[in-house]
Amino acid sequence: MKKLGRNDPCWCQSGRKYKSCHMAFDEKIQQYELQGHMVPTHDMLKTREQVQGIKESSKINIAVLDYVAEHIRIGMSTEEIDHLVYEKTTQMGGIPAPLGYDGFPKSVCTSLNEQVCHGIPSEKDILKDGDIVNVDVSTIYQGYFSDSSRMFMLGDVAPETRKLVETARKCLDIGLEQVKPWNFLGDMAQAINDFAKANGYSIVREIGGHGVGLEFHEEPFVSYVTSRGTEMLMVPGMVFTIEPMVNMGKADIVIDDENGWTVYAEDGKPSAQWEITVAVTEDGYEILTW
Ligand code: MF3
Ligand code: CO
Repeated sequence: MKKLGRNDPCWCQSGRKYKSCHMAFDEKIQQYELQGHMVPTHDMLKTREQVQGIKESSKINIAVLDYVAEHIRIGMSTEEIDHLVYEKTTQMGGIPAPLGYDGFPKSVCTSLNEQVCHGIPSEKDILKDGDIVNVDVSTIYQGYFSDSSRMFMLGDVAPETRKLVETARKCLDIGLEQVKPWNFLGDMAQAINDFAKANGYSIVREIGGHGVGLEFHEEPFVSYVTSRGTEMLMVPGMVFTIEPMVNMGKADIVIDDENGWTVYAEDGKPSAQWEITVAVTEDGYEILTW
Protein backbone atom coordinates (compact mmCIF):
# COMPACT_ATOMS: atom_id res chain seq x y z
CA MET A 1 0.00 0.00 0.00
CA LYS A 2 1.39 3.40 -0.98
CA LYS A 3 2.24 5.60 1.99
CA LEU A 4 0.30 8.87 1.85
CA GLY A 5 1.53 12.16 3.30
CA ARG A 6 -0.66 13.96 5.86
CA ASN A 7 -1.57 16.66 3.36
CA ASP A 8 -2.05 14.40 0.34
CA PRO A 9 -5.60 13.91 -0.92
CA CYS A 10 -7.21 10.94 0.80
CA TRP A 11 -7.34 7.61 -1.07
CA CYS A 12 -11.11 7.47 -0.62
CA GLN A 13 -11.66 10.22 -3.20
CA SER A 14 -13.49 12.48 -0.74
CA GLY A 15 -11.26 15.32 -1.93
CA ARG A 16 -10.22 15.96 1.68
CA LYS A 17 -6.70 15.86 3.07
CA TYR A 18 -5.55 12.46 4.27
CA LYS A 19 -4.90 13.72 7.83
CA SER A 20 -8.48 14.91 8.29
CA CYS A 21 -10.03 11.96 6.44
CA HIS A 22 -8.85 8.33 6.65
CA MET A 23 -5.45 8.72 8.36
CA ALA A 24 -6.58 7.74 11.87
CA PHE A 25 -8.70 4.97 10.35
CA ASP A 26 -5.67 3.55 8.51
CA GLU A 27 -3.55 3.76 11.65
CA LYS A 28 -6.13 1.81 13.59
CA ILE A 29 -6.19 -0.89 10.91
CA GLN A 30 -2.40 -0.98 10.95
CA GLN A 31 -2.42 -1.70 14.69
CA TYR A 32 -4.48 -4.83 14.04
CA GLU A 33 -2.14 -5.81 11.24
CA LEU A 34 0.88 -5.44 13.55
CA GLN A 35 -0.85 -7.78 15.98
CA GLY A 36 -0.90 -10.39 13.22
CA HIS A 37 -4.49 -10.02 12.03
CA MET A 38 -5.62 -10.10 8.42
CA VAL A 39 -6.90 -6.69 7.39
CA PRO A 40 -8.65 -5.45 4.27
CA THR A 41 -6.81 -3.49 1.60
CA HIS A 42 -8.26 -0.17 0.40
CA ASP A 43 -9.58 -1.76 -2.78
CA MET A 44 -11.86 -3.98 -0.68
CA LEU A 45 -13.57 -0.89 0.76
CA LYS A 46 -16.47 0.45 -1.27
CA THR A 47 -17.18 4.15 -1.61
CA ARG A 48 -20.67 5.52 -1.00
CA GLU A 49 -21.15 5.72 -4.75
CA GLN A 50 -20.15 2.08 -5.24
CA VAL A 51 -22.50 0.94 -2.46
CA GLN A 52 -25.24 2.89 -4.24
CA GLY A 53 -24.41 1.04 -7.48
CA ILE A 54 -24.60 -2.31 -5.71
CA LYS A 55 -27.98 -1.32 -4.26
CA GLU A 56 -29.33 -0.54 -7.73
CA SER A 57 -28.14 -3.95 -8.92
CA SER A 58 -29.69 -5.49 -5.80
CA LYS A 59 -33.12 -4.07 -6.70
CA ILE A 60 -33.10 -6.34 -9.74
CA ASN A 61 -31.76 -9.32 -7.80
CA ILE A 62 -34.49 -8.97 -5.17
CA ALA A 63 -37.22 -8.47 -7.79
CA VAL A 64 -36.05 -11.61 -9.60
CA LEU A 65 -36.24 -13.69 -6.42
CA ASP A 66 -39.69 -12.23 -5.66
CA TYR A 67 -40.73 -13.16 -9.20
CA VAL A 68 -39.49 -16.73 -8.71
CA ALA A 69 -41.37 -16.87 -5.38
CA GLU A 70 -44.59 -15.87 -7.16
CA HIS A 71 -44.28 -18.47 -9.89
CA ILE A 72 -42.52 -21.49 -8.43
CA ARG A 73 -44.76 -24.55 -8.16
CA ILE A 74 -44.82 -28.33 -8.04
CA GLY A 75 -44.48 -29.81 -11.55
CA MET A 76 -42.25 -27.02 -12.83
CA SER A 77 -38.76 -27.88 -14.06
CA THR A 78 -35.69 -26.07 -12.77
CA GLU A 79 -35.15 -25.07 -16.41
CA GLU A 80 -38.36 -23.03 -16.13
CA ILE A 81 -36.89 -21.27 -13.07
CA ASP A 82 -33.91 -20.42 -15.27
CA HIS A 83 -36.27 -18.87 -17.82
CA LEU A 84 -38.03 -16.83 -15.14
CA VAL A 85 -34.68 -15.50 -13.94
CA TYR A 86 -33.41 -14.67 -17.41
CA GLU A 87 -36.66 -12.95 -18.43
CA LYS A 88 -37.04 -10.83 -15.32
CA THR A 89 -33.36 -9.86 -15.10
CA THR A 90 -33.04 -8.77 -18.72
CA GLN A 91 -36.45 -7.08 -18.73
CA MET A 92 -35.15 -4.88 -15.88
CA GLY A 93 -31.94 -4.10 -17.78
CA GLY A 94 -29.65 -6.47 -15.90
CA ILE A 95 -27.43 -9.37 -16.91
CA PRO A 96 -27.59 -12.71 -15.06
CA ALA A 97 -24.05 -13.00 -13.64
CA PRO A 98 -23.86 -16.83 -13.66
CA LEU A 99 -24.53 -17.10 -17.43
CA GLY A 100 -21.19 -18.00 -19.00
CA TYR A 101 -19.32 -17.44 -15.73
CA ASP A 102 -16.40 -19.90 -15.90
CA GLY A 103 -18.47 -21.75 -18.48
CA PHE A 104 -21.59 -22.06 -16.28
CA PRO A 105 -24.37 -22.79 -18.82
CA LYS A 106 -27.41 -21.16 -17.16
CA SER A 107 -28.60 -17.88 -15.60
CA VAL A 108 -29.13 -19.16 -12.07
CA CYS A 109 -28.13 -21.99 -9.74
CA THR A 110 -30.96 -24.28 -8.61
CA SER A 111 -29.92 -26.76 -5.93
CA LEU A 112 -32.43 -29.45 -4.98
CA ASN A 113 -32.59 -31.40 -1.71
CA GLU A 114 -29.18 -33.04 -1.18
CA GLN A 115 -27.57 -30.66 -3.68
CA VAL A 116 -25.54 -28.16 -1.65
CA CYS A 117 -25.03 -25.49 -4.32
CA HIS A 118 -24.25 -24.79 -7.99
CA GLY A 119 -27.07 -27.01 -9.29
CA ILE A 120 -27.61 -26.51 -13.03
CA PRO A 121 -31.20 -25.90 -14.15
CA SER A 122 -32.50 -28.73 -16.31
CA GLU A 123 -35.78 -29.67 -17.94
CA LYS A 124 -35.26 -33.14 -16.43
CA ASP A 125 -35.43 -31.84 -12.86
CA ILE A 126 -39.11 -31.50 -12.02
CA LEU A 127 -40.08 -29.99 -8.67
CA LYS A 128 -42.16 -32.43 -6.66
CA ASP A 129 -44.15 -32.40 -3.46
CA GLY A 130 -41.80 -32.33 -0.45
CA ASP A 131 -38.79 -30.93 -2.30
CA ILE A 132 -36.65 -28.07 -1.09
CA VAL A 133 -34.72 -25.97 -3.57
CA ASN A 134 -32.20 -23.16 -3.30
CA VAL A 135 -32.46 -20.53 -6.02
CA ASP A 136 -29.23 -18.51 -6.14
CA VAL A 137 -29.53 -15.31 -8.17
CA SER A 138 -26.74 -12.91 -9.11
CA THR A 139 -27.11 -9.80 -11.24
CA ILE A 140 -24.82 -7.40 -13.08
CA TYR A 141 -26.28 -3.92 -13.52
CA GLN A 142 -24.21 -1.00 -14.78
CA GLY A 143 -21.09 -2.91 -13.83
CA TYR A 144 -22.22 -3.65 -10.26
CA PHE A 145 -22.79 -7.16 -8.92
CA SER A 146 -25.42 -8.33 -6.47
CA ASP A 147 -25.83 -11.85 -5.09
CA SER A 148 -28.47 -13.51 -2.91
CA SER A 149 -30.37 -16.75 -2.61
CA ARG A 150 -33.48 -18.15 -0.98
CA MET A 151 -34.90 -21.56 -0.21
CA PHE A 152 -38.29 -22.63 -1.47
CA MET A 153 -40.27 -25.48 0.09
CA LEU A 154 -42.69 -27.28 -2.19
CA GLY A 155 -45.89 -28.70 -0.80
CA ASP A 156 -45.66 -31.05 2.12
CA VAL A 157 -42.04 -30.86 3.31
CA ALA A 158 -41.00 -33.29 6.07
CA PRO A 159 -40.84 -31.52 9.45
CA GLU A 160 -37.16 -32.31 9.93
CA THR A 161 -36.33 -30.87 6.50
CA ARG A 162 -38.45 -27.80 7.20
CA LYS A 163 -36.47 -27.28 10.40
CA LEU A 164 -33.22 -27.48 8.44
CA VAL A 165 -34.42 -24.76 6.06
CA GLU A 166 -35.58 -22.54 8.93
CA THR A 167 -32.33 -23.02 10.83
CA ALA A 168 -30.30 -22.09 7.74
CA ARG A 169 -32.38 -18.90 7.56
CA LYS A 170 -31.76 -18.15 11.25
CA CYS A 171 -28.01 -18.59 10.70
CA LEU A 172 -28.07 -15.30 8.80
CA ASP A 173 -29.54 -13.39 11.77
CA ILE A 174 -27.06 -15.04 14.13
CA GLY A 175 -24.22 -14.05 11.79
CA LEU A 176 -25.51 -10.50 11.31
CA GLU A 177 -25.29 -9.86 15.06
CA GLN A 178 -21.53 -10.12 14.65
CA VAL A 179 -21.20 -7.77 11.69
CA LYS A 180 -19.76 -4.48 12.91
CA PRO A 181 -16.50 -2.59 12.58
CA TRP A 182 -13.50 -4.07 14.43
CA ASN A 183 -15.04 -7.52 14.77
CA PHE A 184 -13.55 -10.36 12.77
CA LEU A 185 -15.09 -12.54 10.08
CA GLY A 186 -14.30 -15.44 12.41
CA ASP A 187 -16.64 -13.96 15.06
CA MET A 188 -19.47 -14.31 12.57
CA ALA A 189 -18.30 -17.75 11.46
CA GLN A 190 -18.13 -19.18 14.95
CA ALA A 191 -21.55 -17.79 15.91
CA ILE A 192 -23.08 -19.42 12.83
CA ASN A 193 -21.22 -22.70 13.22
CA ASP A 194 -22.04 -23.00 16.93
CA PHE A 195 -25.72 -22.38 16.19
CA ALA A 196 -25.83 -24.95 13.38
CA LYS A 197 -24.02 -27.51 15.50
CA ALA A 198 -26.34 -26.92 18.47
CA ASN A 199 -29.19 -27.89 16.12
CA GLY A 200 -27.37 -31.08 15.10
CA TYR A 201 -26.29 -29.80 11.68
CA SER A 202 -22.95 -29.19 10.03
CA ILE A 203 -21.60 -26.38 7.88
CA VAL A 204 -19.78 -26.98 4.62
CA ARG A 205 -16.09 -26.11 4.96
CA GLU A 206 -14.73 -25.86 1.43
CA ILE A 207 -17.21 -23.39 -0.03
CA GLY A 208 -18.27 -20.13 1.56
CA GLY A 209 -19.00 -16.49 0.94
CA HIS A 210 -17.02 -13.76 -0.72
CA GLY A 211 -16.54 -10.09 -1.24
CA VAL A 212 -18.82 -8.81 -4.02
CA GLY A 213 -19.73 -5.62 -5.85
CA LEU A 214 -17.26 -4.66 -8.54
CA GLU A 215 -16.67 -8.33 -9.40
CA PHE A 216 -18.78 -11.44 -8.89
CA HIS A 217 -16.31 -12.93 -6.43
CA GLU A 218 -13.86 -10.67 -4.63
CA GLU A 219 -11.61 -11.15 -1.66
CA PRO A 220 -11.96 -12.07 1.11
CA PHE A 221 -13.13 -15.68 1.10
CA VAL A 222 -15.72 -15.87 3.88
CA SER A 223 -15.72 -19.10 5.86
CA TYR A 224 -18.46 -20.08 8.33
CA VAL A 225 -16.41 -22.67 10.19
CA THR A 226 -13.52 -20.57 11.50
CA SER A 227 -13.04 -19.31 15.06
CA ARG A 228 -13.78 -16.12 16.94
CA GLY A 229 -10.94 -13.59 16.77
CA THR A 230 -9.55 -15.03 13.52
CA GLU A 231 -9.93 -14.20 9.81
CA MET A 232 -10.18 -10.73 8.35
CA LEU A 233 -10.96 -7.63 10.39
CA MET A 234 -14.33 -6.05 9.51
CA VAL A 235 -14.14 -2.37 8.66
CA PRO A 236 -16.67 0.11 7.26
CA GLY A 237 -16.98 -0.17 3.49
CA MET A 238 -16.46 -3.93 3.24
CA VAL A 239 -19.20 -5.69 1.27
CA PHE A 240 -19.53 -9.46 1.43
CA THR A 241 -22.04 -12.28 1.32
CA ILE A 242 -23.33 -14.35 4.21
CA GLU A 243 -24.26 -17.73 2.76
CA PRO A 244 -23.55 -20.70 5.01
CA MET A 245 -24.41 -24.09 3.51
CA VAL A 246 -26.07 -26.12 6.25
CA ASN A 247 -26.12 -29.92 5.97
CA MET A 248 -28.53 -32.11 7.87
CA GLY A 249 -25.85 -34.81 7.99
CA LYS A 250 -22.10 -34.59 7.65
CA ALA A 251 -20.26 -31.58 6.24
CA ASP A 252 -18.48 -33.58 3.52
CA ILE A 253 -19.29 -32.73 -0.08
CA VAL A 254 -18.65 -34.17 -3.53
CA ILE A 255 -18.70 -32.44 -6.90
CA ASP A 256 -20.57 -33.94 -9.84
CA ASP A 257 -17.84 -35.34 -12.05
CA GLU A 258 -20.00 -35.23 -15.18
CA ASN A 259 -20.94 -31.54 -15.16
CA GLY A 260 -18.10 -30.32 -12.92
CA TRP A 261 -20.45 -27.95 -11.05
CA THR A 262 -23.14 -29.45 -8.88
CA VAL A 263 -22.06 -29.92 -5.27
CA TYR A 264 -23.77 -32.68 -3.25
CA ALA A 265 -23.79 -33.65 0.41
CA GLU A 266 -21.68 -36.80 0.33
CA ASP A 267 -24.04 -38.66 2.64
CA GLY A 268 -27.05 -37.78 0.46
CA LYS A 269 -28.88 -35.92 3.23
CA PRO A 270 -30.62 -32.57 2.58
CA SER A 271 -28.71 -29.30 2.55
CA ALA A 272 -30.05 -25.75 2.86
CA GLN A 273 -28.64 -22.29 2.19
CA TRP A 274 -29.85 -18.70 2.23
CA GLU A 275 -27.64 -15.87 1.04
CA ILE A 276 -27.59 -12.12 1.59
CA THR A 277 -25.07 -9.41 0.75
CA VAL A 278 -24.13 -6.98 3.53
CA ALA A 279 -22.07 -3.83 3.86
CA VAL A 280 -20.17 -3.04 7.05
CA THR A 281 -21.21 0.48 8.13
CA GLU A 282 -19.81 2.91 10.75
CA ASP A 283 -21.91 1.33 13.48
CA GLY A 284 -22.92 -2.09 12.23
CA TYR A 285 -24.25 -3.37 8.94
CA GLU A 286 -26.65 -2.70 6.13
CA ILE A 287 -28.26 -5.51 4.16
CA LEU A 288 -27.86 -4.66 0.47
CA THR A 289 -29.29 -7.78 -1.18
CA TRP A 290 -31.68 -10.33 0.27
N1 MF3 B 1 -24.10 -17.32 -6.69
C1 MF3 B 1 -23.05 -18.21 -6.32
C2 MF3 B 1 -22.37 -17.61 -5.12
O1 MF3 B 1 -23.01 -17.33 -4.18
C3 MF3 B 1 -22.07 -18.37 -7.40
C4 MF3 B 1 -22.43 -19.33 -8.40
S1 MF3 B 1 -21.17 -19.41 -9.55
C5 MF3 B 1 -22.00 -19.92 -10.91
O2 MF3 B 1 -21.20 -17.39 -5.07
F1 MF3 B 1 -21.23 -19.86 -11.91
F2 MF3 B 1 -22.42 -21.11 -10.68
F3 MF3 B 1 -23.02 -19.13 -11.09
CO1 CO C 1 -22.35 -15.74 -3.35
